[in-house]
Amino acid sequence: MHIAVLAGDGIGPEVTRQAVKALRAVAANGPQFDFTEAPIGDAAYDTTGDPLPEATAALAERADAVLFGAAGTYESDLRPPEQRGGHALLRLRKRMDLFANYRPVMAFPELIGASTLKREALEGVDLIVLRELTGDIYFGTPRGVHVENGERVGINTMRYTEGEIRRVAHAGFRAAATRRKKLCSVDKANVLETMALWREVVSEVGRDYPEVELTHLYVDAASMHLIRRPRDFDVIVTGNIFGDILSDAAAMLTGSIGMLPSASLNAEGRGLYEPVHGSAPDIAGKDIANPLASVLCGAMLLRHSLGQAERAERIETAVRRVLAEGYRTADIMEDGATRLGTEAMGDAVAREIARLAKA
Ligand code: NAD
Ligand code: IPM
Ligand code: MN
Repeated sequence: MHIAVLAGDGIGPEVTRQAVKALRAVAANGPQFDFTEAPIGDAAYDTTGDPLPEATAALAERADAVLFGAAGTYESDLRPPEQRGGHALLRLRKRMDLFANYRPVMAFPELIGASTLKREALEGVDLIVLRELTGDIYFGTPRGVHVENGERVGINTMRYTEGEIRRVAHAGFRAAATRRKKLCSVDKANVLETMALWREVVSEVGRDYPEVELTHLYVDAASMHLIRRPRDFDVIVTGNIFGDILSDAAAMLTGSIGMLPSASLNAEGRGLYEPVHGSAPDIAGKDIANPLASVLCGAMLLRHSLGQAERAERIETAVRRVLAEGYRTADIMEDGATRLGTEAMGDAVAREIARLAKA
C-alpha cells in the first residue's frame, strides 16, 4: 500500500511526522506501508516555482491514499493565486475531483473541560460536517479584481451545477443512513439563487432516502444552532464556503482545531486526508502543535482508502487512551494534565498502539 505524504508548510511537517509514526506503529506486525514524500505549498514554490509541482500531483494521483499536512502562510496568501502555497491544495482537490470532504466532530469525554463551551452542551456530540469541496465561490467564474469607473472591484461567483449538488447530497444521505439517520442541509436559499437550487436538489435527492430525516437551515441560523444544541446534529451537508466556516466553529466542540481530521474523497473513493487546521505560523517550529488531527487523519485513511478498519480503530483507541492518561498538548492543556510537545505526543500514541497490538 502506497501512501503519498505531502507535509507542506508551517506545522504541516511536524504533525504529519506523528501521523506517519502512528501508521508505522500500527503496521509493525503485518503488511507495511510504503511512504513517499513530495513537496507542496510554499515549500514547493520556493524550490520549484510552483506550489503544486507536476511530480507531486502525479504522485498523489498514483498513490493508494494521500496524507496531507498544511499549505500556505500569511505572506504567500498575499501573492497572486498561482504563487500561493494554499492554492496548491485547491488545485489538487480539483484535479483529483475530491468533492466530498468529511469532517467528523466528536466531543472526546476527556477533553470536554478543554472547550470554551459548557459541559452540558457538549456531552455526546458526534456529528459530521460534509463539505462540498470542488465547487462554489471557490472556483466559480468570473472572478478577479478589475477597475470600473475609476475604482477597483473584486468579483467572485457562487456557482453550483445540479449535478455537483446531487452527488454531494447523495454522499450526505448515505452517510446519515449509516448513522442516526438525520441530515441537515445548510444553505442561504433565502438570498442566493445558487442556494435555492441547492435546497431544491437536496430535497429531490432526499426522496431516494425515505429512512433519513432531512431538515434545512440557513447558514446564519445553523452557526448558532451548532453552538447552542450541537448534540442534535448527525450529518450536516453544505457547500464549500459555508462548510469551511462551520467546521472551524465546530472544532471548538472538541476543544481544539488541533483535534479535527478530515477525508476528502472522489467518486472512485480515492482520498486525501487533511487536518481541518492550517499551517499555524504562530506556533510552527516550536514543537507545541497538536498532532492528533493528523494522527486521526491516518485512521481515516486506513478506514476509507485502504479498507483497514481494525488498524484504524487501533489508532483511534490509542488516541483516546493517551488522552485518558492525562497527556495534553498546549492547546488542550488543563489543570493536572501532563503537557507534551508534538513529538512526545506522537511517541505516546505510537507506544499505546504497540501496547494495543500486544493485548
Ligand atoms: P490555522 O488553522 O493555521 O490557525 C488558527 C489558530 O489555530 C492559530 O492560533 C493556530 O496556532 C491554532 N492551531 C491550528 N492548528 C493547530 C494545532 N494542530 N495545534 C494547536 N493549535 C493549532 O489558520 P490560520 O491562522 O487562519 O491560517 C494560517 C495559514 O494556513 C494561512 O496561510 C492559511 O491560508 C493556511 N491554511 C491552510 C490550510 C490547509 O492547508 N488545509 C487550512 C487553513 C488555513
Ligand atoms: C481548509 C482551508 C482551505 C480552504 C484553504 C487553505 C485554501 O481553510 O481546508 O479548510 O479554504 O478550503
Ligand atoms: Mn478552513
